[in-house]
Amino acid sequence: MNQLIIEGGRPLHGEVRISGAKNAALPILAATLLTDQPVVIQNVPHLQDITTTITLLSQMGSSVTMKESMGLEVVNNNIKSCFAPYDMVKTMRASILVLGPLLARYGQAEVSLPGGCAIGPRPVNLHLQGLKKMGADIQVENGYIRAHARKLNGAHLNLEMVTVSGTENLMLAAVLARGTSVIENAAREPEVEDLGRCLIRMGARIDGLGTARLEIAGVDELLGTEHHILPDRIEAGTYLVAAMMTGGEIKVRDIQPGLLDAVLERLREAGAIIDCSENLIHLRMEGRRPLAVDIRTAPYPGFPTDMQAQLTAMNCVAIGSAAITEDVFVHRFMHVQELRRMGAELRMDGSTVISNGVPQLTGAPVMATDLRASACLVLAGLVASGTTVVDRVYHIDRGYETIEEKFTRLGARIRRVSASEEYTPVATD
Ligand code: UD1
Repeated sequence: MNQLIIEGGRPLHGEVRISGAKNAALPILAATLLTDQPVVIQNVPHLQDITTTITLLSQMGSSVTMKESMGLEVVNNNIKSCFAPYDMVKTMRASILVLGPLLARYGQAEVSLPGGCAIGPRPVNLHLQGLKKMGADIQVENGYIRAHARKLNGAHLNLEMVTVSGTENLMLAAVLARGTSVIENAAREPEVEDLGRCLIRMGARIDGLGTARLEIAGVDELLGTEHHILPDRIEAGTYLVAAMMTGGEIKVRDIQPGLLDAVLERLREAGAIIDCSENLIHLRMEGRRPLAVDIRTAPYPGFPTDMQAQLTAMNCVAIGSAAITEDVFVHRFMHVQELRRMGAELRMDGSTVISNGVPQLTGAPVMATDLRASACLVLAGLVASGTTVVDRVYHIDRGYETIEEKFTRLGARIRRVSASEEYTPVATD
């Protein structure tokens, strides 16, 4: 198992290029199942979750090839199986996104039911309720969702909670259903919108993208297209917070600053000087410590839960105390215990973490538990004194492209070691 070894305490300076958004690429890869024509996807990030999805599609019979200028071409004219096994779904919950398109185009799907995960229970009841309302016959047995439908029918779906992948699964089903579907209380995340844009290019008829009410008129077939994935706002936010914590100055390139409005507002409140232009965010801390900020996570356009752990790390070294409340995944606090081991003063109160900022964290061996929690431990390591060893790096590789290279270019001392050369601290007397 790989580890990241970080020697903290160096302010970050320089430029970092942001990759395509994982959470847009995953549903768009699932969308390719809706047509037998080639779909070329540009700006796909090189991440473990993408490799997992490509493996899953290939097992079903997809042909996936890398084209010039990093485009991925997916052709689904020979699907032989509509099956997503437990082994795939347990490593990546987003595998559930094949359910809607398989059902819509092939009339059947067998997908392992995802379990809970390190960030708490994550049910898919709203995905299933919506598909049933569209006429699917769904049984959950032996840990699998078995779904059949001769033809899905458009339906009025009022989601009782805002769900990102639930909205996406239902969109992916509704585009080929008979008649019109309305999805109320739909997720407005930019990644949902990006999926919608790709589907429209494929010939889907969707109104209301980016709003909480989507109206989708089903069509008989969808066509091939070419689509460029939007930039990863969470990756961008993670680098910005790293610069904040180390008192540095960075330029984040190939980003759409508007995607990060809620995050930038908080970072400005924490003392950052931020200038944005079309594809760039320039953040300066000029050697200052950030000020602690209160946060409450919420669906987009609110503050993203996927940035909660990183902001918790920032508050650990900020001036003052603050409260961060998690309203999307109320148990998403596995990082708190690890941050405490690095000297953070954090206290839990229900789904709120209350921080009392300390001037200095100390390096420690820490264990990554999920994707964003791992990122927050890397950030803490970058500002801590001494050496931090982050174990279970595979969590980070699910969502951050070449993280150690990008941080090294910004001046951090960070390296990856493989299991064979695992780091053992040198004993000093
Ligand atoms: C997606 C993102 C993830 C992000 C999350 C919230 C992907 C691949 N992942 O996850 O990075 O943290 O959105 O922005 O895009 N819920 C139900 N029933 C359901 C579905 C969801 O109760 O059927 C609840 C969940 O438990 C959670 C809330 O709704 O409390 C939001 O979850 P959801 O938006 O579905 O998260 P994901 O799509 O799994």
